[in-house]
Amino acid sequence: MERIKDVISAIDLDRSNVELILSEAEIFQKQLEGKRCLHIADDRIVMTVFLEPSTRTRLSFQFAATYLGARAMDFGATEISSIQKGETFEDTIRMVDGYDPDVIVLRQGVPGNAKIAADISRAPVINAGDGANEHPTQALTDIYTIKRETGKVSGLTVGIMGDLKHGRTVSSLSYMLDKFGGNTVIYIAPEELQVRQEVVSKLSKLRYEKADSVEGVMEDIDILYVTRIQKERFSDPTEYERLKGSYVISRNFLEKFKKRPLIMHPLPRVDELTNDVDSMKEAKYFEQARNGVYVRMALLKEVMDL
Ligand code: NCD
Repeated sequence: MERIKDVISAIDLDRSNVELILSEAEIFQKQLEGKRCLHIADDRIVMTVFLEPSTRTRLSFQFAATYLGARAMDFGATEISSIQKGETFEDTIRMVDGYDPDVIVLRQGVPGNAKIAADISRAPVINAGDGANEHPTQALTDIYTIKRETGKVSGLTVGIMGDLKHGRTVSSLSYMLDKFGGNTVIYIAPEELQVRQEVVSKLSKLRYEKADSVEGVMEDIDILYVTRIQKERFSDPTEYERLKGSYVISRNFLEKFKKRPLIMHPLPRVDELTNDVDSMKEAKYFEQARNGVYVRMALLKEVMDL
């Protein structure tokens, strides 16, 4: 098995890397019961650089670092950084790396720039979202949640619904499911927001189909992975307004079906998933968010070679 250094794409992680992270995450989850800190990274520094908004990914990395015993340093908001003065992305990364963190966790808006950062930096870089391109650590969180909730990572049918064109969790989750045999994805979206050809062309084992209606596939899927329409990625705001209400998953809607899938969502939600679903037994998205901490602990452990 190759040691994990930079994590830029879900494709970079081979199946054995993923299996290792899933089992380590499970151990961390158990070890943290009743404990605040595991003290296995006390002399390490994890640097989070988030140049695009984030709540869960940023905080779960910071909590993961803290639970491991490492120090979590944050770059802070772009508004108070020298990016405002015109400092380039490359110089920003060079500077951050120069302070010698053990790992840089980077989110920014330009597809491909996570790879550029990894090429510049001495410290390993974890891509925490590069524009609409990829979000590999969300895919690890998703597969961990799927494994905990269903007991398996293969032989599943997953409906991925919403903004599949701009959603970076969609591409990374597809690559993740592709590593394990016998999975099928049904991409559910209006034609304008369907999955990018560039993504499906990188799949090898995963069977997939496209659907424009969620009703028709509800009883065929084990999991419904709901995603937000990515308002910030639309060049034409009227196009966003036209498409934003395309699908809404509510309690009322779900109760129409005898066999109901588990409901997952990377969050944040806007209006595609109503609050009245939260108390249904199928709703797994808050567990999913919490699982992000254990998975990122396992990933940081591997990347920092602890
Ligand atoms: C996702 C993201 O940033 O891509 N959020 C997350 O990291 N959990 C999903 C989204 O913003 O819609």
